[in-house]
Amino acid sequence: MIVKKRKVIIDCDPGHDDAVAIMVALANPQYFDILGITTVAGNQTLDKVTKNVLKMFDYLGVRGIPVSAGYSDPLLRPVQTAGFVHGDSGMDGPVLPEPVSTTTGLHAIEFMRKTIEQCDEKVTLIPLGPLTNIGLFLKTYPHLKEKIECIALMGGSIYGGNILAKAEFNIFQDPDCAKIVFDSGLPIIMAPTECCDEGGVLFSEQEEFKKGGKVSRFAYDLFEYYGRYCAKNGWDRVVIYDMTPIIYLMKPELFETQQLRVDIETDGKYCRGCTVCDFRGGAHVEKCEDPKTVLTHVNREAFVQVLFDALKYLDEKYG
Ligand code: BDR
Ligand code: CA
Repeated sequence: MIVKKRKVIIDCDPGHDDAVAIMVALANPQYFDILGITTVAGNQTLDKVTKNVLKMFDYLGVRGIPVSAGYSDPLLRPVQTAGFVHGDSGMDGPVLPEPVSTTTGLHAIEFMRKTIEQCDEKVTLIPLGPLTNIGLFLKTYPHLKEKIECIALMGGSIYGGNILAKAEFNIFQDPDCAKIVFDSGLPIIMAPTECCDEGGVLFSEQEEFKKGGKVSRFAYDLFEYYGRYCAKNGWDRVVIYDMTPIIYLMKPELFETQQLRVDIETDGKYCRGCTVCDFRGGAHVEKCEDPKTVLTHVNREAFVQVLFDALKYLDEKYG
């Protein structure tokens, strides 16, 4: 299968798995031309997650990819950060100096507007955090929808959830903006928790990173800290959720998918942020005119190999 090179904006809240996902994208310039990184409050406060991107770029020596900070709270409520998963900094584990590089100074949605307007081809958006920036960008500049190729996001669950029994963290955090995005009419690729869980890196595999260069050792420190949360859950692997949409865009053949109607539950005590995936067929449901591509399964070995290859590439490039 020939996969074209895409122009992408990665919207994120690093977050251990966001950081790893960005590294995979950086290691694959044949698939991704990264026009910019935008940040949103989620795993930690906006200032912390933004600082984490800058720190990581300084450490790796990444130059020329603009970073722009976006919204510091979801549309209708204050952010509820996930320090219990990602630590006080949002990326605890690796010890990195304060960043020297700075952001563009533009708000994330202004950066998106300017970049997408100026781009000579359609842009793919890759949201890896709550959908506040993306939802409000679409609401503010609806005429730019025609310049968006698709939105490939980590978020939602098919059956269960993680932050709630029936809701995944990113969608739970800002269900109102998630609804704007899911109802936008744009092609949506949704990487739900179930598929991400399948793609985890086994604890035994993570040990290999220690033997690598500077980038692999940075990844090891990320995995080591974040893996403690995974172990507490009784898992046998480190689930790098946010890598999933990135790898799908590179290698869709590794995945099984289903075309499904997906509605966002914006209210409710138990189900706020639930992504209601409609498996009904036949007489029970009207033809869905706007199905989402939901990733249902992944070939784990091939999936994690993409990460191992990425770390090797980055060790050689930046090590
Ligand atoms: C999502 O929530 C965050 O903790 C992760 O970075 C990921 O984007 C998983 O539910
Ligand atoms: Ca994230």
